[in-house]
Amino acid sequence: MVRIGLGHDTHRLGPGDTLVIGGVRIPHDRTAIGHSDADVLLHAITDALLGAAALGDIGELFPDTDPANKGRDSADMLRRAHAKVAAAGWRLVNLDCVIFAQRPKILPHRPAIRRQIAEILGVDQAAVWLKAKTGEGVGPIGEQLAIAAECVVLIERA
Ligand code: CDP
Ligand code: ZN
Repeated sequence: MVRIGLGHDTHRLGPGDTLVIGGVRIPHDRTAIGHSDADVLLHAITDALLGAAALGDIGELFPDTDPANKGRDSADMLRRAHAKVAAAGWRLVNLDCVIFAQRPKILPHRPAIRRQIAEILGVDQAAVWLKAKTGEGVGPIGEQLAIAAECVVLIERA
């Protein structure tokens, strides 16, 4: 038996020096703003996994009203969500993501991001793929007011 899950996340951008995407710190003149470390990609992956297993969503597991979640490491949230999914008898088959960002160029960082995600999830890098799209200069993505990410995952009975 297999199941599919979909995750989406958006974060506001503000002045800064580092953008954290998929657990990788990318030097950049804007940073993502959020209650946690604002890693838009790891948040989308977390929601996709939880959705595939029908086990809630990131906001339910880690409410932003809980001070314990302030500045929380997104890799830790993903690890916990993945453990919950695995405990329910599921195994990750593969995941595929899209990052929506006008800047910076994501492709040069793809190997590092895939490596990081594969390590967090304990899977082969071949199970992790990633693409990027600009906002074509228009809208909140194009005007660099926001960054977004989407992810689909496939899980199977372990
Ligand atoms: O060419 P098309 O309109 O389909 O896409 P685009 O948004 O203009 O992006 C062109 C290519 O740049 C993408 O296929 C990505 O490979 C790359 N890209 C990137 O590396 N980092 C981004 N933030 C956006 C796009
Ligand atoms: Zn987020």
